[in-house]
Amino acid sequence: MEIGRKIIHLNTVDSTNNYTANLVKQGEIVSGTVILADEQTAGRGQRAANWHSSPGQNLTFTFFLDNVNLSVDRQFALSQIVALGLVELLKRYQVDADIKWPNDIYVKGKKISGVLIENQLQGQQVKSSIVGVGLNVNQLDFGSLDATSICSETNQKMLLMDVLFAFVQEFNSLVQQQFMHSPQLNERYKARLLYYKVEARYADAEGEFFGTIEDVLPDGKLVVRKDLGDVTYDFKEIEFKH
Ligand code: BTN
Repeated sequence: MEIGRKIIHLNTVDSTNNYTANLVKQGEIVSGTVILADEQTAGRGQRAANWHSSPGQNLTFTFFLDNVNLSVDRQFALSQIVALGLVELLKRYQVDADIKWPNDIYVKGKKISGVLIENQLQGQQVKSSIVGVGLNVNQLDFGSLDATSICSETNQKMLLMDVLFAFVQEFNSLVQQQFMHSPQLNERYKARLLYYKVEARYADAEGEFFGTIEDVLPDGKLVVRKDLGDVTYDFKEIEFKH
């Protein structure tokens, strides 16, 4: 499960996730390979959104994991470990980040990083996984977007490769500690979770409401106290409204 032994550095590509998926299809990739691009022309985000990143200023990369050894109902553990790796990496630069469920990384209410994981399933097992990360590093102007970067937070320009290797180290260290299979994983995730046990505004199929995140279940579902009862939401069933 170690990543970063092999790095493919591309100039321009549509999306590092697409590029990786093609290599996987052709059987031409070893587990742990990181594919990094200076520029993506069609970077993809969650919920069919786009991921925009100024060329050469930020990290946009994907890594491939084979033999993931997670059952389908535990696939959220990979999301959690990637999010925690990003939080740990940001700590190295004195940037205090939180996780917005399920796996966005925020600093003082602004998005600094997003993750797009695409799992290949075989029966009830995750066979392999394509993990895409966009991390804002040196970009200072985000137009109308509520986003930030390491440089915006610290006033220091970073070498992109240094930041990438810092992430690789943090991720590998969490994996080596067997964190993905540890009961502590969910606790550590919740300790960094934005709006955990704090009232905030949400929207679900019934409309907008004030609610409080009470729990995140091991399969990733979000438990929110709404009025007097707890409601369990799957991905895409609830939206943050703040
Ligand atoms: C999100 O927050 O919606 C997820 C964004 C994920 C963006 C990264 S950038 C590298 C990789 N390639 C893509 O096309 N998307 C991911």
